[in-house]
Amino acid sequence: MKQRPLQVPGQVRINRYLSMCGVASRRKAEELVLAGKVRVNRKVVMDLAARVRMHADKVTVEGRPVSPDEEYVYIVMNKPKDTITTVSDERGRTTVMDLVSSRHRVYPVGRLDRNTTGVLLFTNDGEFAHKLMHPARGIPKSYRVTLESSLKPDHAEKLARGVALEDGTTAPAEVMIVPRSKGREVIVIIREGRNRQVHRMFEHLGYEVAKLDRVAYGPVTKDGLARGGTRSLTKPELRQLKEIAGIKDEMRITGA
Ligand code: URA
Repeated sequence: MKQRPLQVPGQVRINRYLSMCGVASRRKAEELVLAGKVRVNRKVVMDLAARVRMHADKVTVEGRPVSPDEEYVYIVMNKPKDTITTVSDERGRTTVMDLVSSRHRVYPVGRLDRNTTGVLLFTNDGEFAHKLMHPARGIPKSYRVTLESSLKPDHAEKLARGVALEDGTTAPAEVMIVPRSKGREVIVIIREGRNRQVHRMFEHLGYEVAKLDRVAYGPVTKDGLARGGTRSLTKPELRQLKEIAGIKDEMRITGA
């Protein structure tokens, strides 16, 4: 029988601790641990089973002390073009972090391509980010796609049924041609989050994507937000997202 990991009050697994500190998602935190970038009480820890005593152990990541954020924040941005979804860019290009101002160490939930615009969430709540990004949750993401040529109705059906990409066939999607757009604008709702998925779905059928705009992430839209603008999620938005993500506990909700 598979044994459940030991639960010790006041102690959490190292990856969970790092996500609570807003350093990264749990999965990314594991990578930091395995890369030897994390020290607990000055000793490098590379064991993913290691536990941290909350408020007792001193943890550093690449030499910088980290501690759990006291408040969780949840932000939505209307991402503009020509911005990279990363926490830092070695080549000095504009990143989404240059546009988000929060006194908390927030980071993006998932990513949008450099020239994809629209809804991008940020938080310092590692659990929340981790669960939203989990493929099993199937959060619906709606995109408005502008094509270089008109989408044929039978191709719209193919996209809706699923197309065979190199990393597997896409799950059923909703595909709606925008009225009066002559097939050049399409709303696509997918529940997966593979790399460049929307581009690849259309390219597979021979179409070129001219513009891609994420208009909604679950219940969250960018309505009323200027390009590059941000706001805190509303309580109903957050409640719905947590419901979809399967997060039951009532967490603290604060402003940015
Ligand atoms: N699909 C894409 O092709 N690009 C994105 O940025 C998001 C989804």
